[in-house]
Amino acid sequence: GAAELGPYRHYMQKEIFEQPRAIADTLEGVEGITPELFGDGAYRVFREIDRVLILACGTSYYSGSTAKYWLESIAKIPTSVEIASEYRYRDSVPDPRTLVVTISQSGETADTLAALKHARSLGMRHTLTICNVATSAMVRECELAYITRAGVEVGVASTKAFTTQLAGLFLLTLALAQVRGTLTREQEAEHLKAMRHLPVALQSVLALEPQVVAWAEAFARKENALFLGRGLHYPIALEGALKLKEISYIHAEAYPAGELKHGPLALVTAEMPVVTVAPNDALLEKLKSNLQEVRARGGELFVFADSDTRIDSGEGLHVIRMPEHYGALSPILHVVPLQLLAYHTACARGTDVDKPRNLAKSVTVE
Ligand code: G6P
Repeated sequence: GAAELGPYRHYMQKEIFEQPRAIADTLEGVEGITPELFGDGAYRVFREIDRVLILACGTSYYSGSTAKYWLESIAKIPTSVEIASEYRYRDSVPDPRTLVVTISQSGETADTLAALKHARSLGMRHTLTICNVATSAMVRECELAYITRAGVEVGVASTKAFTTQLAGLFLLTLALAQVRGTLTREQEAEHLKAMRHLPVALQSVLALEPQVVAWAEAFARKENALFLGRGLHYPIALEGALKLKEISYIHAEAYPAGELKHGPLALVTAEMPVVTVAPNDALLEKLKSNLQEVRARGGELFVFADSDTRIDSGEGLHVIRMPEHYGALSPILHVVPLQLLAYHTACARGTDVDKPRNLAKSVTVE
């Protein structure tokens, strides 16, 4: 009811603004990195595996896709990520030394549960879930678990569940890195410190809302949008596009920026806004040349740039600068303005934000 919503217009907006609290709660009680954060016996399990297979649907699939970058670069563990409804029905080559990781807000998604059972039937008995509901079927079915503390999520379009999943997955990365000896104690402590700073950092990203509202007016008049990201931020571009299509019904697609020239560039006109996630990482220079390709074709660019990037607003180029640069955890911050953009665009179009047409909060049947 209205009382619960407080100053917010919709649950989705309230849940976006709850993210600093949700992340702080998810990290509460984490005194240091240890495999036992994931349950008794996790150390032994982590010693017995040499690859990770992530299974999930929807937004949870994108948190898994982000985690693949962390797991391979930080914990040096080969990782694959599969859409649960695909994995459960395809022939695959099982490896018993795999940690099967399911990711689910509800813990009741039929395809994800079935994919987990399928993996187990192929002889992969080590299972772990990152889940927001402690009493769910998923948590009961898995050997190990990390319970995110997003709290009840009402909006069909997932927001705080996604960022808390990322926090849980980053902890998993650090725990696996510890067991595999791929980080020094100092590096581990630095990562943990950066995690603890996330609630404060998120607060300053949320303060960008008025700037995003100004962009949403222009977006609300479009029927198509393209999202670009590279590396660790490619899954964030995918999640931004998903949010926009789910609640504003604008057709949105995401591409890794380097693929632009292999197809989507043909779609770029003045009518196609191009949203870009531009953290100041190793791929920035390449991303800048991708942006020029869009500009040269009259495309209008909307860039979320990091504080220390030298990308400035100009003709056909709109820039919102993120408050700080955040290294490996940057996806957790960069997704927030994309959530806000989808939210305010949907508001401007007058859609039913919390209950978009044809979609359900949790899909418990196939
Ligand atoms: C539905 C929801 C999405 C969610 C997906 C997976 O499609 O609308 O927001 O990401 O299910 O749900 P889960 O509970 O498994 O994370």
